[in-house]
Amino acid sequence: MKFFVDTADVGEIRELAETGLLDGVTTNPTLIAKSGRDVFEVLEEICGIVDGPVSGEVTAMDAEGMIREGEKLSKIAKNLTVKLPLTFEGIKACSHLSKQGIMTNVTLCFSPAQAILAAKAGATFISPFVGRLDDIGQDGMQLIRDICTIYSQYDAIKTEVLVASVRSPMHIVEAGKVGAHVATIPAKVIKQLFKHPLTDSGLEAFLKDWESTGQSIA
Ligand code: G3P
Repeated sequence: MKFFVDTADVGEIRELAETGLLDGVTTNPTLIAKSGRDVFEVLEEICGIVDGPVSGEVTAMDAEGMIREGEKLSKIAKNLTVKLPLTFEGIKACSHLSKQGIMTNVTLCFSPAQAILAAKAGATFISPFVGRLDDIGQDGMQLIRDICTIYSQYDAIKTEVLVASVRSPMHIVEAGKVGAHVATIPAKVIKQLFKHPLTDSGLEAFLKDWESTGQSIA
């Protein structure tokens, strides 16, 4: 499973890139606003940090406007992926940009039917939001299972399932069980993935015993 980090904070991206685990980055208008930076400037910096896809989202509501913004964003770097909302206009823009060979990420997907539309429009990624469905008492992971099942019926579908709105390590484990291609994860949750109390207590005991030997490997 590929790991993208869901942030526009370049400090977080640089720190995680050092682990060698980072395959890409996703942003959205909320995350750009949170960064307090110019959208073009921050996306260009992020595209320089990671080699993989970096999603930058359009904000126009009509397909023409989305295409104009998408073409402008795509000039930032080769790895810039144009993020489009799952609306009638967004799907129209996705078909157009995909035909131009521009990478696309269709976002705000909440149903398997919507995911079928994105695949038909040639989206590079579909972003189903698991956490926001869980928040309203629905089963977010069931949406991932359904989309993975549907996409796997067709060799022609190349769209990758990008699990978004991730809230906890369990979302990652469950996404892995059904073979989701990518998860975009907040930096905090990526760090939680490393954690296990038995790792901490085991390491503490090893170090204590090692100290008693008086030896050094350094
Ligand atoms: O960028 C899309 C996404 O992952 C949103 O997450 O936490 O705002 O629901 P969240």
